[in-house]
Amino acid sequence: MKNKITKAVFPVAGMGSRFLPATKATAKEMLPVVDKPLIQYAVEEAVAAGITDMVFITGRNKRAIEDHFDKAYELEATLEEQGKKELLKVVQSVVPKHVNCIYIRQAEPLGLGHAVLCAKPVIQDEPFAVILADDLIDGETPIVKQMVEVFARHQSSILGVQDVPREHTRQYGIVSSTNLEKDVERVHGIVEKPKPEVAPSTLAVVGRYILTPRIFHHLETIKPGAGGEIQLTDGIAELLKEEQLLAYRFHGIRYDCGSKLGYLKAQVAFGLKHDELRAGFAEYLKTIA
Ligand code: UTP
Repeated sequence: MKNKITKAVFPVAGMGSRFLPATKATAKEMLPVVDKPLIQYAVEEAVAAGITDMVFITGRNKRAIEDHFDKAYELEATLEEQGKKELLKVVQSVVPKHVNCIYIRQAEPLGLGHAVLCAKPVIQDEPFAVILADDLIDGETPIVKQMVEVFARHQSSILGVQDVPREHTRQYGIVSSTNLEKDVERVHGIVEKPKPEVAPSTLAVVGRYILTPRIFHHLETIKPGAGGEIQLTDGIAELLKEEQLLAYRFHGIRYDCGSKLGYLKAQVAFGLKHDELRAGFAEYLKTIA
């Protein structure tokens, strides 16, 4: 097994039903936070971690994502003609030249585990990252970079985790673990969406993973779980029976952009950080607080 992470999987084939009608004709991951779609934040995070191959698992609304990362000849020519140099730079720098974008179609939304399994032909026998773009995480050091550094030391699968209020355990995969080193836990068990009263802890898995290729074997063999879907958590629970699994308490603020409230919080936080908008937006917020 290679020990450098060069590939990231972006599952973007979900239904995005919580954001209907906005997601009727486009993927949830194309929703913008201020002026950038969620998927671009995710790709930038991967690039910052030294990842060069971006594997998108797309569904029925794949076009917008492919178009976003493609060269836009007509748009570029128009901006050039109009002398709009700054905007031209913005459009051209969506993805750096050394990065490959690979698209795989998930014919039916059979679950996150199934979406990850669709990447097997490209990933083959390498460890890889999985990034869920609707978990937007703002860290001084990008989160995947933090996790790649942990991987370099331990060479095992790693789940990005954070503590959540006990009443929210039902929304997450929850791990039981013991501390291994600063911010790193050794995982002993993982359960999908437990009720607060039976949750083994409040340490929740959020949308960042580094996985060894052995995960594919388990995703191929597990039966559909909650909601009739092939659950990534169930595959990881099987992996745990034969390999060390770590959980990493990342440093950063997470916005759950799969929910409307989390998405609005992200808009406000990123609006207040945005060079062009900061002052005017802060001023406006004072008037409505
Ligand atoms: P979610 O659980 O957030 O589901 O998926 P969803 O369908 O996108 O959104 P809601 O709940 O209907 O509003 C977690 C991630 O897994 C991807 C989604 O695109 C999202 O990034 N996914 C999920 C797939 O790619 N395929 C699937 O079959 C299911």
